[in-house]
Amino acid sequence: MSHIFYFFYGLLLCLSLLCEVFVVTWNLHWRGGFAWDRSLLHFNWHPVLMVSGLVILYGNAAIVYRIPFTWKQRKLVCKLVHAGMMFVALLLSMLGLSAVFDFHQGVNIPNLYSVHSWVGISTVFLFSSQWILGLVGFLLPCSPPWIRSSLKPVHIWMGKMILIFSLASCISGINEKLLLTLNGMSAAMYSELPVEAVFVNFLGMLIVAFGVSVFGILFVKKWQRPEDGSENARLLLTEVTP
Ligand code: HEM
Repeated sequence: MSHIFYFFYGLLLCLSLLCEVFVVTWNLHWRGGFAWDRSLLHFNWHPVLMVSGLVILYGNAAIVYRIPFTWKQRKLVCKLVHAGMMFVALLLSMLGLSAVFDFHQGVNIPNLYSVHSWVGISTVFLFSSQWILGLVGFLLPCSPPWIRSSLKPVHIWMGKMILIFSLASCISGINEKLLLTLNGMSAAMYSELPVEAVFVNFLGMLIVAFGVSVFGILFVKKWQRPEDGSENARLLLTEVTP
């Protein structure tokens, strides 16, 4: 069974790499590269950091518990890896947001006017709340077992919702950027499908394929980490064995 998992996991890693290569190439090759100076090049960090943090790293962190070789590890180790990866994802998304806010401020564009920005800001708000609740509920030693067990289904459901929000934010952001740039200041309109548009439409498809693969892996019950009460059982074992 685990070789089927590793086949899909390999596919997920390939999609992760392709999404990264596509989003960086788009901004390097067609959008002029990167800067941190409130210019148009400052904006280019936004898609790269959002896709890297809220899609690729987030999706990979979501399936950490499903990787069979992690089942030999203590659950606490998995929890720390999951929380650590989510923390880096959160940091990247905050940086990505600051890139677009700083750019808007630099060139006097109003903030939070589009449907993309509304869905996007809700995504980051939900993600931050989920991370803090996860930390308090699952990692603080003082949190009682009844809190953990009642929080777990909500945490899993919210985690999936946040990924859907992230995918919707990315697709709407890509579409908005292509409409704004190609229709506003480029030789060929979006509807004429210049090479940039084809390339970036592919990026959108890759992001959707990545999201579908994460959900595919989360959907298969057999790939869930065996629930053996390992933490408590291990503690008990170390207490009774000399
Ligand atoms: C999870 C991913 C994303 C989130 C959470 C997100 C969030 C946001 C937010 C909150 C804003 C508003 C900033 C402001 O008003 O100053 C914004 C702006 C923008 N984003 Fe994203 N974004 C994401 C991905 C992307 C991607 C992949 C692109 C592709 C280029 C993109 C393109 C844009 C554009 C063009 C704007 C400026 C216009 C506007 O405010 O709608 N975004 N984004």
